[in-house]
This record gives sequence, C-alpha cells and structure tokens, in this order.
Amino acid sequence: MEALKTKVGRTITTVILILILLIGGVVYIGWYNLFREVPTYYESPEEHFKYGSIGTENAEGIPYWIWVVLPRLFPDKLPAPGGYTSIGLTWEEGKETPVGISKKTIGFPRQGITCAVCHNSTYRTSPEAKPVIVPTGPSNRFDSQRYLRFLFDCANDPRFNADNILSLIQYNHHLSWLDQLLYRYIIIPQTKQGILTQQQSYAWMDSRPNWGPGRIDPFNPVKFRTLELPLDDTVGNSDMMPLWNEGQHQGFAYHWDGLETSLTETVQTGAIGDGATPKSLPVADLERVEAFIKDYQPPKYPFPIDQQLADKGHQIFDNSCATCHAFGGERTGTVIPQEEVGTDRHRLDMWTKQAADAYNNYAEGYDWDFDQLRKTDGYLSVSLEGLWLRAPYLHNGSVPYLTDLLEVPEKRTAVFWRGYDVYNPEKVGFIAEGAEAEKVGFKYDTQVEANGNQGHLYGTELSQTDKKALIEYLKTL
Ligand code: HEC
Ligand code: HEC
Repeated sequence: MEALKTKVGRTITTVILILILLIGGVVYIGWYNLFREVPTYYESPEEHFKYGSIGTENAEGIPYWIWVVLPRLFPDKLPAPGGYTSIGLTWEEGKETPVGISKKTIGFPRQGITCAVCHNSTYRTSPEAKPVIVPTGPSNRFDSQRYLRFLFDCANDPRFNADNILSLIQYNHHLSWLDQLLYRYIIIPQTKQGILTQQQSYAWMDSRPNWGPGRIDPFNPVKFRTLELPLDDTVGNSDMMPLWNEGQHQGFAYHWDGLETSLTETVQTGAIGDGATPKSLPVADLERVEAFIKDYQPPKYPFPIDQQLADKGHQIFDNSCATCHAFGGERTGTVIPQEEVGTDRHRLDMWTKQAADAYNNYAEGYDWDFDQLRKTDGYLSVSLEGLWLRAPYLHNGSVPYLTDLLEVPEKRTAVFWRGYDVYNPEKVGFIAEGAEAEKVGFKYDTQVEANGNQGHLYGTELSQTDKKALIEYLKTL
C-alpha cells in the first residue's frame, strides 16, 4: 500500500515536472522568437548615427521582412518606381537598409527609424552626378508623411495578408516552419492592426496642409500622440534642421522656436518624438549620437568661390547680419521675437505652454528627465555654417534660394518645387523650378497655410553689388 502511494506520488511529480518543462519551453520559445532583444552596435560613430537603433523598433517599427516586401506588394501606392527611394530615402551601396533605417532583433528582425532619416542631406552638382550623402545635414528629400501614408494604405488593402506577404518573403529569406506559423498567426495580423491604430492617431493630419519632402509637423505628433493633449487646429509644418557642429552651439537654444535649451534633452526628445518609449530609450547610445553631432562639420561649398568678392561680402555681413548670425554675435542663438523678424507665425503658435509643461512632466521617475522645455515668442537666429546646404530657407522652408531671401517678400518665388537635389549655384539653393524639379518635387505654394514667405527683411535694401558680394561670402560659411 505504502509502495503504491509512493509510486503514484512519483508519477504525479514526474507529470507535473514534464508539464512545467513543457510550459517553460513554450514560454522560452515564445520569448526568444517574439521579445528577445539583440542590441545593435556600430563601431563607427557615423554608421551608428545612420543605422543604430534609437529605440523606435518596439512600438512603431515594422517587422523587417514585411517592411522589405511592402513596396513589391504595393508598388501602386508609391509615387514612382524604385521602392522606398521614391519617397526620398537614400540607399548606400551594399547596405541592408537605406540611410536612416535601423534593423534590430526584438524576437525577430524589426525595422525602425533613426535620426538620419531626417538629418541626412543629399546633393548633386549636376543631374548626371551621383548624390553626395551628408550625415547630419537637413534632409531635403525624405517625405515622412508620404511614408506614413504608404504604410496606412498598405494596411487598409485586403492584399495585406499572410499568403501574399509570406510568399514574397520567401524570395529573399528562408523562414523556418515555426517562423512561418508566427508570421501567419501573430506577426502579420498584429502588424496590420498596429499600423491601423497608428493611422487613427495621425488622423488629424488629413485636415491640414501636406508637409512635403524635407518637412514635418514636428511637435503636433508629440502633443496629440505622446502627451495625449486635446486636438487643436494648429499647423506647425517646418523644415528639417542640420545637426552638424552642435558643439559650437553651446548656450544656444534649440529648435526653430528655441523651445529647448539642453542639447541632451533635444536629442532624447528627438527619439521619443519618433517612436521610442521611456522604456526603450537607449540613453547611452544617444550619448554617442550627441557626441557625433557636436563634432561633425558641414561640407564646403562644392562650386568655385570668388574669394575677393567674398571678402567684400564679409564686411557687409559684419554690418548687417553678424549680431544675429555670427558666432559670438550678441543675439546669435537666441530667440528673436516673431513681431521683429516677421516670418510666418504658425510654427510658433503650434507649441504651447501647456505642451511644454506636460513634456517636462513626461519622464518623471526615470534617471533621465526633461525639464528645459518652454514656450517662446519668436524664432531662433540660427548660426549659418553649411548654409548653402540648408536650402530651402527659413523655418518653413518657404524661400528656395539665397538670392530670393535678399529680395522683399513680394519678389520672392511664390510657387516652387521641393525635393529635387541638383544644386543651382547661381541662385544658391536646390533647383526648384523646371521640368525635372516638377517631376520629382512637391509643389510648394507660399499661399498655403503655414507656408508664408514673408518677413526677415534684413539685407533686402542693399544695392545689387553688395548683395552679390554678401552672397559670395555666405557660400563660404
Ligand atoms: C522625422 C524627422 C526627424 C527625426 C527622425 C529626427 N529629427 Fe531632429 N529635427 C527634425 C526637425 C523637423 C527639426 C526642426 C523642428 C522644429 O523646431 O520645427 C529637428 C530639430 C532637431 C534639433 C535642433 C537643432 C538645432 O540646432 O536647433 C536637434 C538637436 C535634433 N533635431 C536632433 C535629433 C536627434 C538626435 C534625432 C534622433 C534621436 C532626431 N533629431 C530625429 C526632424 C527629425
Ligand atoms: C535681428 C536678427 C537677425 C538679423 C540682423 C539677420 N537675421 Fe537672418 N535670421 C534671423 C532669424 C530669427 C531667423 C529664423 C527666422 C525663421 O526661420 O522664421 C533667420 C534666418 C536666416 C536664414 C535662414 C537659415 C536657414 O537655415 O534656413 C538665413 C539664410 C539668414 N537668416 C540670413 C541672414 C542674412 C544674410 C542677414 C544679413 C543681411 C541676416 N540673416 C540678418 C535673425 C536675423
């Protein structure tokens, strides 16, 4: 009797043990294939800037293999052939992803965006030339809104299903039997659902003017999505900024309206605004990004410069511009009241005191934190290094050429095309008119809300000879 009891007892224990092992095994396999995190590491700071994760893959990233096949499944939803390059992404030879796109394994490989998706310029000196890639430069081609809408359109199409997606993935990559099951029953349906939820959180975009390439509405997504503040009807469309030489900007405010005063916070809010969460924010990796942008220098003007003329222009700059734009200038890097500079006020009005307060409270309890966000009353008198590559000019990118900026607003180009990267050395800016610019570009109409090209009248009263000299000097910056 005793012996039998022990035997039954032993059997029960064994069954329980096997069950525990089985459940444990399933949990482990599930964790390994869906959640295990493999950090991305790039030895080179530049590669890290271009491709290293900023923590966006978890919440907003697309499973890498699905992301790869979407343009093949839905070429009809892109503006032109060429996959993601048709919305302004740049692919370096031999790389798995375009500049500004990360690939990180969280259970399975996922795609995310990095700072370089917006902070990376390309330019060409002629239509035949290969694009030169300039990390930290302001992107003039990536159309972030078009990219989001491409994903939304895909997820709304009945062709976004496991059969189609899996059969396209098999062309590139062998998925194991288990992976196929996970993709079919979990990853593909959840991706679709995730994109549809994301679409709802961006519905407010549909009643406002389009961003176009090289521009975003930088903080309305933060207000409405991250901080969950009530919707308003502001339009903040603004041009991307360069990040080079930030080390020399110490003491400057950051962003077009100077809403931040700490570079570390500006870098961290950059990642949060792009889809990182407080839990996924890779603080140490972002320190590497910060170190990189402090040092990286803008490229020199790639066309000939008349040095004598530029020297003459230097004096004009010292008289008319240096207080606000030269390093060491009394007002350089400070906020100039909007009433004084007179440029379009939409971007300024988009950011509110309430939003600044909410963002300052956002990360309470973490060992990093925000407390330097604020509301200002104007725009930053930015330093002008690498100016030639910052075109189109002003915070909303409303002035295509430097020659235009030195004219009164009535004489500035009223309608032009953004997003073509061949340079115009006569006018000093990207070619913004003509057949090629119209073919690849986005029509920018300065009459549209938040696109106004008024204000910043400095230098408009100079003689033609002085303007020529000043522009020659500006090319040297
Ligand atoms: C989706 C596009 C996008 C991404 C991605 C992005 N930024 Fe930006 N960034 C912008 C735009 C646009 C501005 C100017 C916004 C404004 O103030 O109106 C800006 C401004 C900045 C500035 C202020 C520059 C200055 O001199 O005042 C810094 C610094 C910056 N970003 C850093 C980063 C970093 C670091 C990352 C990655 C962690 C990042 N950004 C990711 C679009 C982006
Ligand atoms: C009183 C201060 C002040 C003076 C003087 C001034 N600027 Fe500006 N400048 C600004 C401000 C503020 C902005 C940003 C305005 C905006 O984008 O809405 C700006 C923007 C610019 C930009 C656009 C930068 C970019 O990245 O798009 C250029 C170019 C520029 N200024 C050139 C000049 C030149 C050349 C002069 C002298 C003829 C001059 N500025 C005089 C305050 C000034």
